[in-house]
Amino acid sequence: TQRPYILGIETSCDDTGAAILNRDGNILSESVHSQHSQHLRYGGIIPPIAGELHRQNIENVVSEAFRKANLTPNDIDAIAVTNRPGLVMSLRIGVRYAKYLARKYNKPLIPVHHMEAHALTARMNNQIPFPFLCLLASGGHCILTLVKGVQDFYMLGETMDDAPGEAFDKIARRLKLRYLPEYEWMNGGQAIECASSKATNPNQFEFTLPLSQYKDCQFSFSGIKDNTRRIIERLERDNKLSPDEIIPDHENFCAGLLQTVTKHIARRTQRAIQFCEDNDYITDETGRRLVFSGGVACNDFIYNTLKELCDKLDYEIFRPMKQHCTDNGIMIAWNGMERWLENEETYRNINLDDVTVD
Ligand code: KG4
Ligand code: ZN
Repeated sequence: TQRPYILGIETSCDDTGAAILNRDGNILSESVHSQHSQHLRYGGIIPPIAGELHRQNIENVVSEAFRKANLTPNDIDAIAVTNRPGLVMSLRIGVRYAKYLARKYNKPLIPVHHMEAHALTARMNNQIPFPFLCLLASGGHCILTLVKGVQDFYMLGETMDDAPGEAFDKIARRLKLRYLPEYEWMNGGQAIECASSKATNPNQFEFTLPLSQYKDCQFSFSGIKDNTRRIIERLERDNKLSPDEIIPDHENFCAGLLQTVTKHIARRTQRAIQFCEDNDYITDETGRRLVFSGGVACNDFIYNTLKELCDKLDYEIFRPMKQHCTDNGIMIAWNGMERWLENEETYRNINLDDVTVD
């Protein structure tokens, strides 16, 4: 295995993750503690609880990563840690622990931007040169960006309100999908994708396509969320459902919802491609590539729709492996690696007091 070795630590949301990578992006070890089942009980993530669970688990998760890789903290070259954006109480735990290790073992610290890490993960297993267009969709974000370098991102658009994963999670909760055993352990996005695949008539319910009049790269998901809430309330009333009963035809409902979200995402992406072509940011010389990442990229329906769009426009589409699309320590370690290889000196000279959560 090839040095450098980088440890990555991720605690921005509800997963405590750590991983160690080598130069080629080979994963020497990975360790995660998911808080998903604990948060299910409260119907969502409560920030102080998330922070407390990270605090309880961080040491074990990081030690396990070292143990699995058969390495000690002395053996690694640098520590990468997510310091933004995310839940402040969660981020602080990871950053504090990373600083503690960096001080104790005298290792350089690399602060990593969570969304940049999502964007670059695809480069770990594929030859994807800069620049490329990137669509990041998760529980906290929806971003279209032109990635020109490891730290050179040109923002084309983002969501004006909710993120798509957040909308899926809230709607799945409102639909009470968790009451059905087959969806019990799934996150909202997975449950909606799975229910959609059983639909017999995806057009049974009507959803309004957001921002259909606007020709920019902005996203909006709050309208769809309100739209669905109204439909669910009406169905509950009309069918006189008790509080723990699920609406009939929820599969068709999910399919209609997923189609609308997908259409919105695909239109915005097409718009971003057009913009990059019009301004010669992407040309025959640069090559035409789209990277789709973030938790929502696990969705095969959305991916396949984007793939069709890319085929039509002669773009190559990439997405990381599903387990790397959602939050993990690997993407943080990889971002640390890319930064380290490009700019080792900066991180060797970094002042630990300057690394803060913001
Ligand atoms: O990237 P991620 O793990 O965490 C954030 O940074 O937000 O993304 C989590 C989000 C959740 O909202 C979840 O509903 C969504 O990703 N998600 C999906 C799927 N799997 C996870 N959304 C749609 N389809 C999926 N299969
Ligand atoms: Zn994420």
